[in-house]
Amino acid sequence: GNKIQVKDLAEKINISPNKLISKLINFGVMAGINQEIDFDTASIIASEFNYELRLDKKTDEEESKDKSYDSLDFEDPEESLQLRPPVVTVMGHVDHGKTSLLDAIRETNVTQKEAGGITQHIGASAVTINNKKVVLLDTPGHEAFTSMRARGAQITDIAIVVVAADDGVMPQTIEAINHAKAANIPIIVAINKVDKSEANPDRVKQELTEHGLVPEDWGGDTIFVPVSALKRMGIDELLEMILLVAEMQELKANPNRKAMGTIIEAKLDKGRGPVATVLVQKGSLSIGDAVVAGAAYGRVRAMLDDRGKRVKKVGPSTPVEILGLSEVPEAGEHLYVVEDDKKAREVATRRKEVIRNEQLKVNQKVSLEDLFERI
Ligand code: GTP
Ligand code: MG
Repeated sequence: GNKIQVKDLAEKINISPNKLISKLINFGVMAGINQEIDFDTASIIASEFNYELRLDKKTDEEESKDKSYDSLDFEDPEESLQLRPPVVTVMGHVDHGKTSLLDAIRETNVTQKEAGGITQHIGASAVTINNKKVVLLDTPGHEAFTSMRARGAQITDIAIVVVAADDGVMPQTIEAINHAKAANIPIIVAINKVDKSEANPDRVKQELTEHGLVPEDWGGDTIFVPVSALKRMGIDELLEMILLVAEMQELKANPNRKAMGTIIEAKLDKGRGPVATVLVQKGSLSIGDAVVAGAAYGRVRAMLDDRGKRVKKVGPSTPVEILGLSEVPEAGEHLYVVEDDKKAREVATRRKEVIRNEQLKVNQKVSLEDLFERI
């Protein structure tokens, strides 16, 4: 929606920022001078000071560019919402055992198949625990993959921060915590590798306390679970905690609407063409649906679940691989189902233009910096 910075609002209605901030506090809104508040709040506050706030109309062109894409998403009425499985993202420093932990949970063996033992993409899978489905996303810990971690945090409901007990808190541990905090999602800490003789779980607790994660047994409210992915110890306790936290969140979505989701990753496959892994977040996605994802569009020709099995229709909180897109979409783009192919192409074409303009701006900035460097 529309937002305005506190200091801009103060200027517009001609009062001191401090006065405005205390007024906001009276209304139960805690906001600093540089923070943004929504238009509705702003206009109520403004009316307190006898000002009427009005939105400037954007030009038609601006409107259609913003709206053509993001208005495809919409709020669902409360009564249409149904419980959906939680999406859990595993994050942490490189080699602290994220993939091994997921292997232990799924009873798979992905770690051993990875090149150099390093995860280089976001892996999505689903497990059923006590009859409850949980979606798991694996993220890379290597420092080069910041954007993937950020994306993982944005589409998740719960973050599992894995910290190796023999290594302690490391740069990407802190980065992971920051992504989770920015995305405003609960964190569960898994202290891994407790089987090792050098393991020092208390040190991990101590270090994380310094980053605002205080364990429950130390008087805080962060859940810490000691585990060993290798020896498959503590896995049940961890799963129990995941279910507990998920239950408290009461996660819901409307399964009976046009699907909306996020591209987790995408690539060009020699035989199959563009292949995209999508996390369906709202609605249900079916074969034959006309979709748009950034500049890519098309009809869903085939869908494969996380085990490579063909599926025809999937609901909220389901990762699926889809075929049938015109090109490879950017990871992180939203995917929307639209009425028909024509609409899909139309939206994608406009979206392409927006992306190109953004790209142009970035390139201009980059070349300027290059210039400075050369001088
Ligand atoms: P990236 O994806 O590259 O960030 O690494 P990761 O966090 O997924 O780590 P991974 O699961 O690949 O494990 C790294 C190494 O730690 C492997 O050699 C694992 O066998 C080992 N490892 C993982 N968990 C444990 C554990 O609980 N105990 C012991 N002793 N070793 C473990
Ligand atoms: Mg890994």
